Amino acid sequence: MKLIVAKNYEELSKTAADIIKEEVIKKPNIVLGLATGSTPVGTYKNLIKFHEEEGLDFSKIKTFNLDEYVGLDGKHPSSYRYFMDENLFSKINIKMENTYVPDGKASDLENYCKEYDRSIEEAGGIDVQVLGIGSNGHIAFNEPSESLSIGTFIASLKETTIKDNSRFFNSIEEVPTTAISMGIGSILKAKKIILLANGKNKAEVIQQLLDKNVVSTNLPVSLLLLHPDFTIIVDEAAYKK
Ligand code: F6R
Repeated sequence: MKLIVAKNYEELSKTAADIIKEEVIKKPNIVLGLATGSTPVGTYKNLIKFHEEEGLDFSKIKTFNLDEYVGLDGKHPSSYRYFMDENLFSKINIKMENTYVPDGKASDLENYCKEYDRSIEEAGGIDVQVLGIGSNGHIAFNEPSESLSIGTFIASLKETTIKDNSRFFNSIEEVPTTAISMGIGSILKAKKIILLANGKNKAEVIQQLLDKNVVSTNLPVSLLLLHPDFTIIVDEAAYKK
């Protein structure tokens, strides 16, 4: 595991985007795994800037997002598809057909989850996976639990996650209680993993992750410590020592 402590959110975002830029230049048909939420927004802004100012080319890349709420279609302003279109895809030269976000309206959800993993494999696997972290240690919607799903699955959201995510909805009642989410195995299959965490409400979970030399399904993020190419980028607020 490699730890990078950035001064602030701006520096964190620039550092993450620089790593992704380098990888895209190295492999123009790269497969990126992407996250939504507030954490990666600055990283995406930097990637848009690289595209506009330096002509960074996304025309051959493919992306797979981690998750989507069950029941929301891509036009819903709180859907992750909408978020990705707004914050990245519509502002770079990616082909929309190369952007995969789970379909919250899929009819046969169980089968759909299997298909999602299959599409990732058919694309050659994820080269670089970008992740945020929940204040309870979740990654994607792999919530703390006795056991974790290996492949893409239908997740039940924990109360803390529903509360955390209600800021993206008009009221807490509107937050869906289930989501399609890549499993911990789908994530660990990525060749390179970059976890981003900023702000003081992530400090406790980051400290837990760094201090305990153990892995536990009750702290899903800890399983990433087993990955051979795992980089954590935090800002100073999320890194209280
Ligand atoms: C988003 C995702 C979530 C978030 C996490 C942190 O696709 O899978 O696990 O990464 O909830 O969210 P923010 O960045 O909003 O603090």
